[in-house]
Amino acid sequence: MKQDNILLIGAGGQIGAVLTEALRTVYGADHVIATDLKPLENQSGPSEILDALDGAAMEAMVKKWRINQIYHLAAILSATGEKDPMWAWNINMTSLFNVLEIARQRSLNKVYYPSSIAVFGREAAHQNTPQYEVLIPETVYGISKVAGENWANYYYRRYGVDVRSLRYPGIIGHQSMPGGGTTDYAVDIYHYAVQHKPFECFLRADTALPMLYMADAIRGTIELMEAPTNRLSVRTSYNLAGMTFTPDEIAASIRKHKPDFKISYKPDFRQAIADSWPASIDDSAARHDWGWKPDYDLDAMTKDMLEHLAEKYA
Ligand code: NAD
Ligand code: SER
Repeated sequence: MKQDNILLIGAGGQIGAVLTEALRTVYGADHVIATDLKPLENQSGPSEILDALDGAAMEAMVKKWRINQIYHLAAILSATGEKDPMWAWNINMTSLFNVLEIARQRSLNKVYYPSSIAVFGREAAHQNTPQYEVLIPETVYGISKVAGENWANYYYRRYGVDVRSLRYPGIIGHQSMPGGGTTDYAVDIYHYAVQHKPFECFLRADTALPMLYMADAIRGTIELMEAPTNRLSVRTSYNLAGMTFTPDEIAASIRKHKPDFKISYKPDFRQAIADSWPASIDDSAARHDWGWKPDYDLDAMTKDMLEHLAEKYA
């Protein structure tokens, strides 16, 4: 087992809940400190309450647990952020600066900071969007991720802080529920399907978006963090791809197992956000530099999701 001590911020969220347990299997349960705004339940290791806006509290926690790596997952996502842009900007940026400054001042080994496909806007190529593309996002969330990526790059180049980052597509998993994103429909739909309920989708039937299964996202994150430094050429954030599908296509995939499944469409404000994002992503830099390769396509993911959720709801 590796003997780093990791602070995970935003550990109660969709990705954090799963990443915490995955990191504990690599580093040992007692070496991964899970934190969030709210008390965390069912933990196999230490957990604490931490508001990432409170830099002094974050630093005290780093000292207390002799932390040398931070995974900073706390953020306000795309759809929720549009309801109060200044609030979302403050949380996303203040929390990141607290992490970067503590990492710089205390010479931490590594920082993980996820970015998103939300960094792209409609000026970017819609298909197979390149790693280095014009970044004109249309949400406050996307603006904060573009700024965050560039600050990560700045702290690496100016101060040598080893910040690593992935532009996640929409993440889909059975273990946890999503927290206010535009891709959330692709998790919710499976919960409706296993409960034999019809699903009303907030995006149009033909809205193609890049997506990634949770198992791949967690493995990719740990692989990036373990890659030798000299293999990493991208210090803003790596494009990461898994699959691309529309609501119509995910419904068809579900119908292979549940022929009676019904979907209807009622697009809301999230349609404009989705329309500004790429349909597919070119992740060749991640593949080349540190060997990224997703395991799951849409049908493999559907099978796994339905099996796990059937157990959960049984
Ligand atoms: P989530 O909304 O499910 O979880 C975020 C967590 O952060 C929540 O548990 C929340 O309580 C916590 N949090 C919010 N404000 C906080 C604060 N001030 N202090 C401490 N904790 C706070 O988000 P997620 O889906 O797990 O996303 C994790 C990260 O991955 C985010 O940075 C997000 O932008 C990024 N990301 C997620 C996706 C996705 O599809 N889920 C896609 C791209 C990028
Ligand atoms: N899944 C995220 C969202 O929809 C993308 O970053 O906000």
